[in-house]
Order: sequence, then structure tokens, then C-alpha cells
Amino acid sequence: MAKKTVRDVELKGKKVLVRVDFNVPLKDGEISDENRIVQALPTIKYILEQGGRAILFSHLGRIKEAKDLEKNSLSVVAKRLSELLNQEVKFIPETRGKKLEEAVSALNNGEILMFENTRFEDLDGKKESKNDPELGKYWASLGDVFVNDAFGTAHREHASNVGVASNIKETVAGFLLEKEINFIGGALENPERPFVAILGGAKVSDKIEVIKNLLKVADRVLIGGGMAYTFFKAMGYEIGTSLLEAYKVDLAKELLELSKGKICLGDDIVTGKGFDPETEKNVRTVDQIPADEMGMDIGPRTAEKFDSIIKDAKTVVWNGPLGVFEFPRFADGTRHIAQSLVEIKDQATTIIGGGDSAAAVIQFGLEDGFTHISTGGGASLEYLEGKLLPGIECVDNK
Ligand code: 3PG
Repeated sequence: MAKKTVRDVELKGKKVLVRVDFNVPLKDGEISDENRIVQALPTIKYILEQGGRAILFSHLGRIKEAKDLEKNSLSVVAKRLSELLNQEVKFIPETRGKKLEEAVSALNNGEILMFENTRFEDLDGKKESKNDPELGKYWASLGDVFVNDAFGTAHREHASNVGVASNIKETVAGFLLEKEINFIGGALENPERPFVAILGGAKVSDKIEVIKNLLKVADRVLIGGGMAYTFFKAMGYEIGTSLLEAYKVDLAKELLELSKGKICLGDDIVTGKGFDPETEKNVRTVDQIPADEMGMDIGPRTAEKFDSIIKDAKTVVWNGPLGVFEFPRFADGTRHIAQSLVEIKDQATTIIGGGDSAAAVIQFGLEDGFTHISTGGGASLEYLEGKLLPGIECVDNK
């Protein structure tokens, strides 16, 4: 069902509540990846240009005890947003109360404020994370209309998304949420074919539902990364000291049968003697993995085999790295496949799931080479599992 967007509501003179996902990584108090802020700019700029009065809010990190408060203040994000917008972003270091209410009342058309980390409310009974009904109602009372642009949080049912939406007349999607729905939802519902899914990451157990769901819609499912070894074991190979989820071997067998040849695992790997960036590196065929070596990356023949499938694709969804890309000597397979996707950009829709795969392509400096890199890690995974996400469901239908 198509969702209403920020284009579908009157914004001029309105107090516009905007839920963004500014849960950005911080290193020594500095933002180390501002992608989520940059991706939210089109919605924010549009609201301001239309004469809306923007009231922004987000969570940042997880708040369990009082000492988590200081290092998770959104003030640093408000400062950066202000630089990116080239406009003052008034920061209110509270999540409720008179100071916030007065600042909202004082906003003029085209002005913006941001209030403190919504999860500061978790300190007292997890009010934000448990969608406390009073809290959602209170935040909703601060505005006239609600724009949800926080795709990264769409798998959470929190007071700041679902709670606000349940207590306000109009809830619409921002441009980022709309884009994520169009690309990820579009690939799942109506992909141009051939549709190739590439799945990696350490554990099969994290990806079972994704594999099952993608087997229903994709034409081929390419599997690499740590989880491939449980599949190799299920195929009867000895996998040395590679990552194994022994209790998932039977399930891997079932998935291979269910896939009717759709799953492709390749036939060689790059091994190391230990999980160590400097460990000796060898290329082995999957039927000859020594007992004291572990799989760390897909092998060159596998990369070529994957290429031969990718080159004809019209839609590609990629979730999870294909090797230990954080160690430079085991990053080749992941880099190779990222490069192959860059090469087909003009002929195919290429979608990178958030989280580790996004981190990998950014590490390789290839972030501009894809149709879409999702801003949601957990959210894109659950979306690919075929789940309904509360943060999308709470947006009004057209
Ligand atoms: C994310 O980074 O995946 C989202 O911002 C959600 O954060 P959370 O996992 O702490 O709920």
C-alpha cells in the first residue's frame, strides 16, 4: 500500500515533528560517519523551504544508566546538522518540559530545533523503547503533523515513532523513508529480473528468515561469508576450523533442497591459519580445506562464478560481507563483488543493506557506485525477512 509522504501535507506555518535516525557512530565524542545526517537533509530542507517549523528528534545509542547520558547527547549532532544546513539548529537539552515547549512556541516559519536524545526517557522505566503511551502522546502534542524519516529505527515500536503517530492526525513519510520503501520494498514486491540476492555475514542463524524470504522472490541467491561454511558442512565437506553453527547444519541442508539450485556457494575459499589479520593466506578448493585452516574469504574462482551471475542481473540486493573485510588480506572477495556491482550500475538496480555491507563499500571508497545504500542495519534485515516494520506501518496510507 502506497504511503503518504511529506509532499502530501500542508507544511506552511505548521509545527512539523520530524523523527530522524541520527543514531550515528561517535568516536571520542566526534561523529565518525555522518551518512545518516546527510541522508536526512532533503526532507529537512524541504520542510524548511515550505515554511514549516521543524522539531527534530532521534535516539542515540542505548541508555541504561545515568553515566550513559553525557556520552549520548545529541548536541554534537545538532551542531553538525547546523553546519550542513548552514542555518541555526536550536538544541534543547531536554526531552520534555517548559523549556522545550517554549522553544517550540517561539519557532518561526522555516526555523528548526532539535531536542535531546529520545532514549534519555529510557532511564526511567524504558519509556521511549517500550512505547509508553503518555510519552508518545506528549511528543505528539508538540506538533501539528508528524514526518517519520527514521528508516533505521523502523523495526522498533517506540514512543518516538509509533507512539507519536498514534496520537496525531497526520503521519507521513520523509523522502528517506520513501526511498528505502521504494528500493527495498520494490525489490521484494516487484523486482526487475533476473533478481540476484547476495548474502554474507558471520552467522546463518542471523539470516535464516532472509534466506527463506529471498528464495521466494529472487532468481539466484549467492552465499559467502562466515555462514557459507555451515552450508559447505551440510554438503558433506570438511571445513577445518571455519565458523560452524553445528545445530544449523540440518536447516542448511533443508534450505539447499528448498532452493532447487537457486543457492550458489562457489567452489573455492581463502583460508587463514587463525583469526588474525597477519595469518598465512591460502586459496583452497572446498573439497580440500586442511583441518587446521579456517575460511576467511570467498576464493577467486567463486568471485568469477558470482560475477557470471551478477553481470546479467537487473536487480541486486546485497546483505552481509563475503569475508573478513576488516582484515585487508581477506577483503578481496568482498571488494571484488562490490566492484562487480558498480560495473552493472547502469543496467541494474543495486541495493546495499545497511550495517556491515554498507561499512564495507564505504571502506572501499565505492559508496557512490550503487543505486541505494540503506541507512538501516537491523531495519533492512527485518524488511528483507518480509516483516512488516512498525515505523512504516504507522505512516498513513495514500
Ligand atoms: C540502528 O542503528 O540499527 C538503529 O538506529 C536502531 O538502533 P538500536 O538497535 O539501538 O535500536
